[in-house]
Amino acid sequence: MTTANRAYTDSLRLSVAPMLDWTDRHCRYFHRLLAPGARLYSEMMHANAILHGDRERHLGHDACDNPVALQLGGSDPALLAQAAQVAAAWGYDEINLNCGCPSDRVQAGRFGACLMREPALVAECVAAMVAAVDIPVTVKCRLGVDEDNDYEQFAAFVDAQVAAGADMVIVHARNAWLKGLSPKENREIPPLKYDWAYRLKAERPQLPVVLNGGIASLEAVQAHLQQVDGVMLGRIAYHDPYVLHLVEAAQTGMAVRSRTELLRQMQPYVQGWLERGVALKHISKHLLGLYAGQPGGRAFRQVLSEGAHRPGAGWELVEAAIAVTGEGRELC
Ligand SMILES: Cc1cc2nc3c(=O)[nH]c(=O)nc-3n(C[C@H](O)[C@H](O)[C@H](O)COP(=O)(O)O)c2cc1C
Repeated sequence: MTTANRAYTDSLRLSVAPMLDWTDRHCRYFHRLLAPGARLYSEMMHANAILHGDRERHLGHDACDNPVALQLGGSDPALLAQAAQVAAAWGYDEINLNCGCPSDRVQAGRFGACLMREPALVAECVAAMVAAVDIPVTVKCRLGVDEDNDYEQFAAFVDAQVAAGADMVIVHARNAWLKGLSPKENREIPPLKYDWAYRLKAERPQLPVVLNGGIASLEAVQAHLQQVDGVMLGRIAYHDPYVLHLVEAAQTGMAVRSRTELLRQMQPYVQGWLERGVALKHISKHLLGLYAGQPGGRAFRQVLSEGAHRPGAGWELVEAAIAVTGEGRELC
């Protein structure tokens, strides 16, 4: 492995999953404070939205976001290639293609998880994006769809993408059931099969493999990292974001900081956006889980979520929410 390859693989150890309506730029700013080295993913954006929509709204991000990946949805190679070029020019470090979303709307548009059944089309998309940009192009996929239960078919899907130039694969290690389950149920009901991702990595040592799905503790992260190059955390990173900080600290040796210390680092950012006319609730909603499981954690959530909807709510509300946790007191 070259030094450049090793640096890339190292940068994959911890990432935060793409999550629609959740991992917007404000959320990523907060996650970046918690985990300075983590790889962050945008919400999924359709290639057409990038090409024809409001680019500042879809692509605007802070410099500290990096390394940050834009996740694209779509299955038209030419459109995806153009969208990837736009995203690269906006400073994204990676383009990730969504082959895992099971929603009806996405299926109707012939993208997301149903692409697991169209490996050749996905490979065309990957090849077109690889030809268009100099940054890594990656794929986030499931193990299969519906009743699929064939490791070789899954591995052949991945191999087709690697042959087309994909630099890395993120495996959400369960099937997507395209009929009868909501997207939420599709994150919970199809059984997890981590061993498929482990086997993929063991058989292809040169291929960077990131594991996703149901990983919810520091211990689990450490165990998976014995088998794959990286872990991607989704819901736990949102509902209990301090876990991100603990994982990052365990991996890098950086000092662990308190929740309150980390939260107060958001103040200039929050005030900057309030001055630009953005309501506090658009940022504070991402902070609600910070004290999850802690004394005062529910009260923190309540004070912040109720107060943030009032017109004119500002940083003092965040301080009031910190005060009910009791954690801020010794730091003042
Ligand atoms: C609210 C929400 C939105 C999501 N949106 C996306 C998305 O835009 N693209 C994607 O690939 N996966 C999306 N996912 C799936 C996550 O990226 C991840 O694969 C899934 O939640 C499993 O990981 P976890 O068990 O760590 O949460 C979403 C998940 C949630 C909870």
